Amino acid sequence: MKKRMISLMLCACVALAAAGCGGSKKFNNPEKGGTLIMATNAYFEPYEYHEGDDIVGIDVEIAQAIAEKLGMTLQVEDMEFDSIIAAVNSGKAHIGAAGMTVTEDRLKNVDFTDSYTTATQVIIVQEGSEITGADDLAGKKIGVQLGTTGDIYASDGIEDATIEQYNKGMDAVQALSNGIIDAVIIDNEPAKQFVSKAEGLKILDEEFVTEEYAIAIAKGNEELLDDVNKALDAIIADGTVQGIIDKYITAE
Ligand code: ARG
Repeated sequence: MKKRMISLMLCACVALAAAGCGGSKKFNNPEKGGTLIMATNAYFEPYEYHEGDDIVGIDVEIAQAIAEKLGMTLQVEDMEFDSIIAAVNSGKAHIGAAGMTVTEDRLKNVDFTDSYTTATQVIIVQEGSEITGADDLAGKKIGVQLGTTGDIYASDGIEDATIEQYNKGMDAVQALSNGIIDAVIIDNEPAKQFVSKAEGLKILDEEFVTEEYAIAIAKGNEELLDDVNKALDAIIADGTVQGIIDKYITAE
């Protein structure tokens, strides 16, 4: 009798799960009026960076606008870049917004919203360097931020290069300034910021990959993905996103 009850209950559970009931329980979704937690790596000006006690930047303001649309308050959690996807999947954070590029590989582990902007990977070298383009990087010492697409391109695509992985993009740029490495591969807008803060560096004209930035959401969390996409699409359509980008990036 007891056994039968248990197996009946089990059946009911399986049926409910199959019907998608209680699906939202699987994910740590924020409540309406609650807090939307954003995982980021705030050493990536102009997308996210520390300013006094605050974390500011394009991604922070876009996430704030999304939270507002969803009737939530944004909370920003700063962490290593290569911890963001795990934080999102474990429910420690609801969204990952970090100038994060959509890649086939990442899509295996996480879902992405619609893209909110594009970027390119560029090469930074010392002024007067013999490196004038990606073809000259073979056999060189290249600095990257650990776990970024710059890291992936350098590690996979450049013959005989030695890859130095740094936790922060600026640390790689500093190493370049000090002559420890020959080049840095990194996203174009942070590259401009880093170069303006260092001595004797320049960005090569060649932009060798174009990328799409999007917000990461736990794999399979369609409910949150849908909500965030709706909010994002609305703030793209009404010009809010472009306004935020223009505030931080002045056209040359
Ligand atoms: N776009 C590159 C990537 O997705 C770099 C992003 C680094 N972002 C950051 N906040 N540090 O791999």
